[in-house]
Amino acid sequence: MITFLLLFLATVLPTTQAIQRPRSILVAGSLNADTFLPVARFPSPGENLTLLQNSEHLIDVPGGKGMNQAIAASKLCKRTGSGESIKASFLGQFGNDGAASILRSALIENGVDISLCGQSNHPSGRGYVMIVPQGEVSAVISGGSNQFGWDHYYDELSDQDIEDVIRPYSLVQLQCEIPHHVNLRLAGAAKRLGVTVMLDAGGEDRMMGRDILECCDYLVPNESELERLSSYFEGDDIVEEGIAEKMEKMQSLLGPDIDAGLVYQRVSLLQNNGANNVLVTLGARGSILFKKQRSTAADKTNIIYQSACCLPQGSSVIDETGAGDCYRAAFAVSLMEQCTGDVDVVDDDDTLRKCMKFASAAGAMAVTKKGAVPSIPSRDVVEELMVWNDKKSIELATETVPRGGMKRSDDDGMDDDFPFMFGSRLNSMKDRQDLLEPSDKMLSPRDFVRRQARIKGLGCVDFNYPQHFHDWTPNEARRALDEAGLVAGAVCLRYPSKFARGAMNHPDPTMRREAIEMTKDAAEVAQILGCDEVVVWSAYDGYDYPFQVNYKEKWSQLVSAFQECADAYPDIKWSLEYKPTDENTRFFTVASTGAAMLLVKEVDRPNFGLTLDMGHMLMSGENPGQSISMVGDKLFGIQLNDGYTRLAAEDGMMFGSIHPSMALEALYQLRVNNFRGHLYFDTFPQRTDPIREAEYNIQRVKDFWRAVGSMDPDEISRIAAEHDALGSLELINEALRQ
Ligand SMILES: *[C@@H]1O[C@H](CO)[C@@H](O)[C@H](O)[C@H]1NC(C)=O
Ligand SMILES: *[C@@H]1O[C@H](CO)[C@@H](O)[C@H](O)[C@H]1NC(C)=O
Repeated sequence: MITFLLLFLATVLPTTQAIQRPRSILVAGSLNADTFLPVARFPSPGENLTLLQNSEHLIDVPGGKGMNQAIAASKLCKRTGSGESIKASFLGQFGNDGAASILRSALIENGVDISLCGQSNHPSGRGYVMIVPQGEVSAVISGGSNQFGWDHYYDELSDQDIEDVIRPYSLVQLQCEIPHHVNLRLAGAAKRLGVTVMLDAGGEDRMMGRDILECCDYLVPNESELERLSSYFEGDDIVEEGIAEKMEKMQSLLGPDIDAGLVYQRVSLLQNNGANNVLVTLGARGSILFKKQRSTAADKTNIIYQSACCLPQGSSVIDETGAGDCYRAAFAVSLMEQCTGDVDVVDDDDTLRKCMKFASAAGAMAVTKKGAVPSIPSRDVVEELMVWNDKKSIELATETVPRGGMKRSDDDGMDDDFPFMFGSRLNSMKDRQDLLEPSDKMLSPRDFVRRQARIKGLGCVDFNYPQHFHDWTPNEARRALDEAGLVAGAVCLRYPSKFARGAMNHPDPTMRREAIEMTKDAAEVAQILGCDEVVVWSAYDGYDYPFQVNYKEKWSQLVSAFQECADAYPDIKWSLEYKPTDENTRFFTVASTGAAMLLVKEVDRPNFGLTLDMGHMLMSGENPGQSISMVGDKLFGIQLNDGYTRLAAEDGMMFGSIHPSMALEALYQLRVNNFRGHLYFDTFPQRTDPIREAEYNIQRVKDFWRAVGSMDPDEISRIAAEHDALGSLELINEALRQ
């Protein structure tokens, strides 16, 4: 018995040890010799056309999705300098004619390993592409060896044989230009071996059943392919709760041409029928990855959006052929590069987004040149474009679905449709220590974070800089957040008292410089903490008496300081939190929402905006809803609280406690504005249990949010059209009664 067991183990072990396989990509698919025929118009039946005079017609240009993707993978793998590159191999069937040698050379020249390729008794696959002067294209494809060269995959080869082919690889990439049966066998073998499978839905219009969908880790359709594939299945409408809200946000990222809800519905239909991760490419509108797992870690949405990469300066769209192939190959390469050590499956949202970003950049480069293979960029060029895009960062707010703006799944599971994450003032954790166990002292930010973690429904922590970083490092803070199951929301400037005469407005240039550098340091801290917001509230930038400062000079100091910060950290959302007055500074340089908007215009940077604080708005005599509306998409942050609005008294009362109707309208305006940040309670419980106080605030906001949702938009429009005072009060009463 024991001998038998040992023998058994001996035969099994070699395969189980193969986990540490070298990362390499196998692209299996088609290769074509394409002929491009420029014609004046498409021929009608029975008609013979000649090619356009003086036009460039190209014969035997290498193409075919398999070959394009193999060459793209190979070129994109190649790193200059140190670091081992991933290898790309191609499995295809060469034809028996002259074109085969052209295709073979193209693969070899681009570093693709072709040792697995076969040689069939059929002519090479060919594409005849007619192009009319308006740019429209019509093609005839002759499948040749792509279609008929795979006979051995029907009978001759056993499952074992196919597994032996695939075993050395860590990812298999397929498209739909070779027989479905071959794809199914390759995908099946890969699945059995635990090798990642990516299937490009492009190529032949064919139904994909559960059998193949289940084998693919990534199904990659474009919009029309998604529509086609899902049309083979019948299913219910949107099932998941709270998804409308999520897709509403997605919709604002995608623009009006694409129906985000429909995309979601189609993906769900495929996933209900066996598909795993579905990566939908949307050309210039970017791409969306719908992960199969819809509910893992807190704050993860499992829907990842990546905008399209901007084209390099001075270039434009020349030819979109092959851009999709490039995207797919680049995604595969990037995915395999993330598999290091014993990591075989990449699941982390940030890492996946990185892969999508790299893929977008590769796809963008591919549209700037004519042809499929000739337009495939090298890795260096793609990386250069990524750096340039990061610098440019024009789509800062739309690049990702911001973490803070999306749902965090709470253990109570009661707020499925609430779209924001909550944060609450960290320093309020020092209040009411009498409620704690004697051993449970609140001495350091670490203790505060630990206490905040007890707040039900809280998702993120906003830190003050440098105030909260005197006795631990940002890395330690991040670890503490991880342990507490929280994330960082923002880093907020708290200039120390040596800046009492001014921070960015200090009369001494050396001190001003120091304040600006300190402000930039906060961005470094934010990056380590994993958040992208820095909120600047300066207690000291302002004055107390007439003639005390030169207003124009103070103003322009702020403009240039914020420009410097925004340019130095283009990935950070910088926002000013204005305040009208307080005991440190009777008149702030920026003292109202209107003045703050003027500053935003003069700073004129896409990553500079405002954080509005309810109490500050009330204190400066504003109605918060109106101010939020005025700030529009420049609103990066919101701090919720309430107050009695006695001059210069920042009461920090609980949300909606004093001005419920204004609180209701503020949330309504956040909704109209499509606000995407997190909600932060800047309150001062002091004599109240700060845990219960935060939980009350959270509940209050959720109730008000629901009330906003219950309001009839037609009625709101009617009231506004008629300036109907009584109508507005009745609307508020009705909403708050719920
Ligand atoms: C068109 O060209 C084909 C191929 O040369 C030839 O067989 C056919 O007769 C031509 N038809 C006409 C209408 O000229
Ligand atoms: C999707 O890709 C196919 C080629 O694979 C192309 O013909 C089609 O136009 C694309 N659809 C969209 C919406 O771009």
